[in-house]
Amino acid sequence: MSPLVIVPLLFSLFLNLSLAENTINVQNYGAKSNGKTDSSKAFVNAWAVACSSTSPTTIYVPRGNYLIRTAYFNGQTCKSKAINIRIDGTLLAPSDYNVIGNAENWIKFEKVTGVSIYGGTFDGQGSGLWACKNSHKNCPKGTTALTFYDSNNIILSGVTTQNSQMFHILIDTCHNVKLQGVKISAPGNSPNTDGIHVKLSTGVSIMNSHIGTGDDCISIGPGNSNLWIEGIACGPGHGISIGSLGWKIEESGVQNVTVKTVTFTETTNGVRVKTWARPSNGFVRHVLFQHIVMINVQNPIIIDQNYCPNHEPCPRQGSGIQISDITYQDIHGTSATKTAVKLDCSKTNPCSSIKLEDLNLSYKDSELKEVSEYVDSNEDVAKQSVSGDSEESEGSGSNCDYRDKDSLSVPYLSRNDKMRHEMWFCVNSKPSCFGLKEFCLITGLNCSSYPSESKMKKGKKTFQLTMDYLKKKSDLKKQKEVYDEKQKASYALFGFSWHSWYLP
Ligand SMILES: *[C@@H]1O[C@H](CO)[C@@H](O)[C@H](O)[C@H]1NC(C)=O
Ligand SMILES: *[C@@H]1O[C@H](CO)[C@@H](O)[C@H](O)[C@H]1NC(C)=O
Ligand SMILES: *[C@@H]1O[C@H](CO)[C@@H](O)[C@H](O)[C@H]1NC(C)=O
Repeated sequence: MSPLVIVPLLFSLFLNLSLAENTINVQNYGAKSNGKTDSSKAFVNAWAVACSSTSPTTIYVPRGNYLIRTAYFNGQTCKSKAINIRIDGTLLAPSDYNVIGNAENWIKFEKVTGVSIYGGTFDGQGSGLWACKNSHKNCPKGTTALTFYDSNNIILSGVTTQNSQMFHILIDTCHNVKLQGVKISAPGNSPNTDGIHVKLSTGVSIMNSHIGTGDDCISIGPGNSNLWIEGIACGPGHGISIGSLGWKIEESGVQNVTVKTVTFTETTNGVRVKTWARPSNGFVRHVLFQHIVMINVQNPIIIDQNYCPNHEPCPRQGSGIQISDITYQDIHGTSATKTAVKLDCSKTNPCSSIKLEDLNLSYKDSELKEVSEYVDSNEDVAKQSVSGDSEESEGSGSNCDYRDKDSLSVPYLSRNDKMRHEMWFCVNSKPSCFGLKEFCLITGLNCSSYPSESKMKKGKKTFQLTMDYLKKKSDLKKQKEVYDEKQKASYALFGFSWHSWYLP
């Protein structure tokens, strides 16, 4: 063996030895891998040892099932600035939901710095609680499976969380958190089982993860900035949501969020922003949704500033949340409903700088025929196909009345294309449909950059549109006057739905 080979060998031997010296096996602290003995104390004791060590330490959890009642890892007095937790086994919550159903957290890290978890499965065994909730009995609220609170420099890699009673992973008041290769799963009908909820945090990234749950795959609460979400497969679930926001008057805003390269499969929403319809000083700004595939998604793109889940009595004021600078770019696939894009903005704080670029969302195949009949100039079929859309909320397309066929055909509907892209807009509170030009005219939106007809003819089929509310009141007035003059009507200014199809 040449010296050149020996040196790295020795070096790696040295590394392994030093690693071994600082590895703490939870079984040496009494943890039992039989899935029956409560191992909470053993885990917390192992943590205490790692925490008091001045050098980097690894806590090791061998294969097997470990019953954990609740475990709370506090890092406030830790000397160690790097604790790795390597898990080959599964941590099990008590299967009787009454045991911890009223505890807020099952496993919680608080005030920790430099904690990394590699591998392992966290199983919340929540099915009993979901059944209770789904039968509308009086049930405990449920516990969040894995929480990081007030912590910095966290890594979760290759971690699986499943069947949580409530949220699976909660990142609350943290800075610099990386989640990668995370797998989260719970059935589509399990209530409130959000995959990852992030709030009041900065510098969180969620990469290359699979999330299927009964609620939002990822939900983004107030007070987040510099959030990066990339490479996610979401479904079943309610999509990726910013919100609900704006319940409180004083609320910190959400800014600089990137959501890219995500596939939504059969989810109820794709990318959503939701706010309560009541006063608040919060905001959402500088958000990019990019390279997204929708597979049969009910609301692929939705801004809902009149959020009202489960037909509860909800506030009906104008949402105070100011939404601005949101870009939707390269989003394609299929919508399970006719409303591929719904922007229902606040009536007191209308959205501004919403950019829609390269969208190609078609209504699911089974309906194409119905729509194409309509294009073959059968107006009655058109009316039916739109008004029959019972799942849509009031005004967003119900009773949509097809008015001006020619305006729809310019500039997106190029009759020479094999695929014809048809879209129309329905303004809330008036059951009428419009082509884009007309729509911009009456809503007072400044629609500045949709492709010209000549560009369309040159084969640019995707659609680009930048919308902004007109800055000057006088411009809006002028625009509306022109329209009113023409149509002798006036329409609501805020919110609309955009229906689009590709037609064979
Ligand atoms: C936005 O967030 C990303 C990380 O998610 C960060 O790299 C970038 O610097 C942030 N931009 C601003 C203007 O804060
Ligand atoms: C839009 O999507 C349809 C259906 O997936 C596809 O056939 C068509 O080529 C796409 N159009 C563009 C311009 O990407
Ligand atoms: C509309 O938007 C374009 C591009 O942002 C801008 O140049 C133009 O001044 C705007 N028009 C009005 C009337 O606000």
